[in-house]
Amino acid sequence: MKDVVVLIGAGSIGQAIARRVGAGKHVVLADLRQEGADVAAKILDDAGFETSTIAVDISKRESILALVEHAQQFGAIKNVINAAGVSPSQAPVAAILKVDLYGTAVLLEEFGKVIADGGSGIIISSQSGHRLGALTEEQNFQLATTHTEELLNLDFITAITDTLKAYQYSKRCNVLRVMYEATRWGKRGATINSISPGIIITPLANDELKGPRGAGYRNMLKASPAGRAGTPDEVGDLAEFLMSSRGRFISGADFLIDGGTTASYWFGDLQYLKKTH
Ligand SMILES: NC(=O)c1ccc[n+]([C@@H]2O[C@H](COP(=O)([O-])OP(=O)(O)OC[C@H]3O[C@@H](n4cnc5c(N)ncnc54)[C@H](O)[C@@H]3O)[C@@H](O)[C@H]2O)c1
Repeated sequence: MKDVVVLIGAGSIGQAIARRVGAGKHVVLADLRQEGADVAAKILDDAGFETSTIAVDISKRESILALVEHAQQFGAIKNVINAAGVSPSQAPVAAILKVDLYGTAVLLEEFGKVIADGGSGIIISSQSGHRLGALTEEQNFQLATTHTEELLNLDFITAITDTLKAYQYSKRCNVLRVMYEATRWGKRGATINSISPGIIITPLANDELKGPRGAGYRNMLKASPAGRAGTPDEVGDLAEFLMSSRGRFISGADFLIDGGTTASYWFGDLQYLKKTH
């Protein structure tokens, strides 16, 4: 039996993290698209990692439970990386909420029941959640603690009609849910944190850059403090630190890695975005 790393969402960001924490362990690559998981597995196999693949739809609890069962046959689940998600240009409101908000909450709940002592988890959220402005204390509490099966029935969630808002609320919920789950994960000797990336060049980001909001994103990157988009490897480096022995005192926290874009959105050159984003 080996320590097991479970990566959900075998895209570019997920792969970058798995490469950094997966050596000597068994890496489970899970994705909605089996072929996406298989392609990632081939790349990792060829680089000396031990892998298996499984199709999973995180918007369905039974699918997440099947993933847990698959992973446990190889050993103790030491690391969980959730890099699965759909962006505002990729899906309608209901699908974004089902995958990004509900799916992530269920994943945290189910893996929180089995994570190994000394383990760690990372949820990929987004800078987008940091643009929502202040929610009420009651809304924060509800997003953090409402029973997973009731989350999508919250009145301010059912009222969402545009995909950007659906994505922003989902990503804000990811961060709050990680804070809530940190207690339960801590009781098992494990840490759980979220990372909120800015625009990272991946297939998903490329869809956004070519989508209806593409020109706006390109201008935003040019005017941001870093002046460029990020790379999956930079997110991987941060995740590696958080999941390493040096990160053991860090749990229930969210880390923006966006080249300063959020700071500039609130107080700098990107304040003009407040009207539209
Ligand atoms: N790329 C960016 O600029 C950026 C910025 C901020 C946040 N993010 C977040 O990072 C995460 C990873 O995105 P990425 O950029 O690597 O994109 P990606 O498209 O390369 O990876 C996302 C993966 O999630 C999978 N997926 C979609 N729905 C799923 C479901 N229901 N169940 C299981 N898997 C599912 C897709 O098949 C895909 O392989 C997402 O949560 C995204 O919101 C990305």
